[in-house]
Formats: sequence, structure tokens, C-alpha cells
Amino acid sequence: MDFEGFKRRVHATFNIDLAGYKETQLRRRTGNLMSRRGVADYFTYYQLLKRDSAAFQEFMDYLTINVTEFFRDPGMFEVLEKEVLPELLSRRSFLRIWSAACSNGAEPYSVVMILEDLAPGCHYRIEATDIDKKILEVAKRGVYSADLLKNVSGVRKEKYFRTDHGSFVFDEKLKKRVSFRRHDLLKDPYITGLDLIICRNVQIYFTRDAQDRIMRQFSESLNPGGYLFIGSSETIFNCRELKLEKRLLSFYRKVEAR
Ligand SMILES: C[S@@+](CC[C@H](N)C(=O)[O-])C[C@H]1O[C@@H](n2cnc3c(N)ncnc32)[C@H](O)[C@@H]1O
Repeated sequence: MDFEGFKRRVHATFNIDLAGYKETQLRRRTGNLMSRRGVADYFTYYQLLKRDSAAFQEFMDYLTINVTEFFRDPGMFEVLEKEVLPELLSRRSFLRIWSAACSNGAEPYSVVMILEDLAPGCHYRIEATDIDKKILEVAKRGVYSADLLKNVSGVRKEKYFRTDHGSFVFDEKLKKRVSFRRHDLLKDPYITGLDLIICRNVQIYFTRDAQDRIMRQFSESLNPGGYLFIGSSETIFNCRELKLEKRLLSFYRKVEAR
């Protein structure tokens, strides 16, 4: 079985579409995992993934790289707090937000803290999704080690977390502002009618084709005047065609209908 065959089998058996991920990266990672497991060919590795849940989880972990933290890229979150969210709050009485590829929840919970500080009592709902079920369980628990909070101010730590044996537990009531569920950006239907989409540090793993498809769907999901917030090292190639205008570094705004 060659690599293409492996990808097809993984898709058919586990419903994971590897075709959207950058080939070189994916091959290198899969190769590393295979040698770690002492497996020499793709077919044997595919069979191992089918029968050994630990090997499958290891493969998923490699594919999904969950690295994140609260207020990742603080400068960008400052723009979100000082410019983008105030503008959206001034125009809409209820904000609908999607944190796509949210990992362990640090990203959507960062947005909750900003909104609660900016406009206490404001109306909003955050949907947070990821392909990785295991990391979504972590997000729902909302318990974090101190290193993930290095960009959280002392005031916010005090206001939004309680400590438990050295860990930080996100406020139970505010946790309910975020609903977590599994969603694969490469094949599941997209949420619509949104004012803000945050999708950061995941595009980098996808092929150019997959990135274009995702950005097109994000644009369709946004209300006119809504914002898309992407990672600092990411870009949107055909924003004009997608009716997205670049506003500030990492922020794109859906063009309003004339
Ligand atoms: C590096 S983390 C980024 C987390 C957060 N957005 C941030 O910027 O800190 C990438 C996340 O993308 C998720 N992911 C990978 N492939 C995905 C897919 N096809 N659909 C949805 N999420 C995916 C991974 O599970 C992982 O949690």
C-alpha cells in the first residue's frame, strides 16, 4: 500500500480526510510514528491503527497538535479587545462567535474574559469546535496549568479562575457561555450567521486548496460587517474575491452589501 492508499483507508475507516493536510508534513509525521512503533509499511501501520486504540490516539495527537494558550499572541488579542469587539458590540445586540479549531478552550475562554470586561451583561454565544474529541473534553473541564496563563493579567486570574492544587479552574458560570462540539473543518457543514470567526494556527497544516475552501466557507458564514480573526503567520490569498477586506493584521472584515 502506498501513502495515497493509506490516506484512502484512513478516510474510509476513521472518517478522517487526510487529503486536506500538507503532504510533506503529514508523510514525515506518519513516518516518524511508524518508526517509533517499529512498523515498516503503510498497510501494517493502518492495521495497527485499527486494532490498537493507543496507537490511533497517538496518530490523532500527531495530526492535531493541540498547542495553545490563553491570549495567544497578546498583541492580536489587544486589537480584538480595543477595536474589533467594541465595533461589533456597538452594532449588534447579540454577538454570535465561532472559535474553530479551539483546542483545549483557552481561545474561546479568552474571548469570554474580554467580553465580560468590555460590556458586563452583554449578550453573546460562543460555539467552539475542534476535530479532536479528547481535547474537547479538556476544554469542557476548563482546568489549566499555570504556564498556559502567562498572558493572563493578575486581575483576570483573580476574577475568572479559582485555584485547585496549583491548577487554574475557569469560572463555572462563564464556562456555560461556550458550547463545545466536534467539527471537522475539512468536511462538516459550517455554522452560519456569525459576527466573529476565530480560526488560528490550524490553516498552516492544510494544503492551499483546503485553505481556499475553508476561507470561502468562512466568508459565507459571516454576517456582513462580521470579522474573521486568523493566526499571525497565516494569510488569505484571494480575500477580494471572497468579499473579505483586510482591516488590521490578522483581521478580515466581510464586506457589507451595497
Ligand atoms: C495548534 S492548535 C490551535 C489552537 C488555537 N486555535 C490557537 O491558535 O491557539 C490546532 C488545532 O486544530 C485542530 N484541528 C486539526 N485539524 C482539524 C480539522 N480538520 N478540523 C478542525 N480542527 C482541526 C487540532 O485538533 C488542534 O486542536
